[in-house]
Amino acid sequence: ANGAHVLVASNRGPVSYALDESGELTARRGGGGLVSGLSAIGPEAGAVWVCSALGDGDREAVRRGVGEPGVRMLDIDAATHADAYNGIANSVLWFVHHMLYQTPLEPVFDAGFRRQWASYEAYNRAFAEALAEEAARGAAVLVQDYHLVLVPRMLRELRPDLRIGHFSHTPWAPPEYFRMLPDDIAAQVLRGILGADRAAFLTQRWADAFTDCCQAVLGGPGVPSGTRIGVHGLGADADFLRRRAHEADVDERMGSLREQIGTAPDGSPRRSIVRVDRTELSKNIVRGLLAYEQLLEDRPSWRERVVHVALAYPSRQDLKVYRDYMDEVQRVASAINSRYGTADWTPVVLHLKDDFARSLAAYRLGDVALVNPIRDGMNLVAKEVPVVSDEGCVLVLSREAGAYEELGEDAVVVNPYDIGGTARALHEGLSMARGERAERTKRLAAAATALPPTQWFLAQLRALDD
Ligand code: G6P
Repeated sequence: ANGAHVLVASNRGPVSYALDESGELTARRGGGGLVSGLSAIGPEAGAVWVCSALGDGDREAVRRGVGEPGVRMLDIDAATHADAYNGIANSVLWFVHHMLYQTPLEPVFDAGFRRQWASYEAYNRAFAEALAEEAARGAAVLVQDYHLVLVPRMLRELRPDLRIGHFSHTPWAPPEYFRMLPDDIAAQVLRGILGADRAAFLTQRWADAFTDCCQAVLGGPGVPSGTRIGVHGLGADADFLRRRAHEADVDERMGSLREQIGTAPDGSPRRSIVRVDRTELSKNIVRGLLAYEQLLEDRPSWRERVVHVALAYPSRQDLKVYRDYMDEVQRVASAINSRYGTADWTPVVLHLKDDFARSLAAYRLGDVALVNPIRDGMNLVAKEVPVVSDEGCVLVLSREAGAYEELGEDAVVVNPYDIGGTARALHEGLSMARGERAERTKRLAAAATALPPTQWFLAQLRALDD
């Protein structure tokens, strides 16, 4: 049969389109770890990437027939997409897997939730149908993430000939937390993924949690013998990053960041603690700021000698909890600046406008990188910093990030809830001797690039063949 032999499905695709006032469309690269990982595949593999139109620009692009080769963007009805993406995926499923529901943020499983769940099913069905249409006989289909957990089973029913993989880019919640979902929904989520030949995760920890959930929710043997479980720890793309980090726009951003960081009273350049995140609750940006404040409080010798460069880019702004969090980050940062700042020292330099060149500039010049998520599937920032750093950068890393499994030994490890402990880790990082810092960075870079995106992708394809 005609059709593609390799297909990828994810909510966010490799490009998104912005529509300006004159009606012109401009393409830009999608954000987040999933797209960074998959982008390396490129159209040369002959793969088809099925994704969703995410905004007005994308919808207009679909209507005008504008697109990239190998990308099929689905123009799913906006209300259905909003229910599925914002309502179910980014509110309920994201919050469960990252264990973000804590008083006063609580799940509400009422009639509104059931209506949104019906949209989530319709949205998953649209993907399954498009994939069934696009796939050649016996093709491999790699379905990505919590947006599309129902697709493997739906697709299996439409096309029993296909080989189907599912990959989760998030953590997986342990059963005692996962079972917060209504029982029928919890079972549907698990059975949806179990429709795949292979369910894969970023770390063994998340894979084990999935297996535990299958046992607890579905009973019996849990994972049926027809579904294999796999682990592929997505690594950083060293070649791409090193090349990209030395382009002119990055040098230019380094200049302006250096200016904002400034010089200490003795004339030497100030040290910097950098962080780069999508601004959302799991990234724990506020506690990071509070830890920095505690460092300034407990160790006054750092005052005027260090700057916290926080790049906190907007994410999922349709949702109020994400917007409120963004406001809180700004509030806490300016409180620190008004409390400690002086005429020529701004303790926190906060940038909110998404800018990849600036992220790379921060990676290159940071003395310490703070990666302190409450929970994170992997966290690619932790892997990108050591690859790009000019003179070595101490990684202060949460033990709850997937990256901890591979990078824990050479990082300064923190409990992300512990503000005092994080403040001490920042001090340790800033105080580390240059030689040791450089040595650790070298080992971190080696571990971080063990499975670059192309290999990560091919490993999944190969595993589906076995
Ligand atoms: C996480 C998810 C990805 C998602 C990314 C960005 O990494 O696992 O599936 O694409 O966040 O989030 P967004 O909602 O902007 O796609």
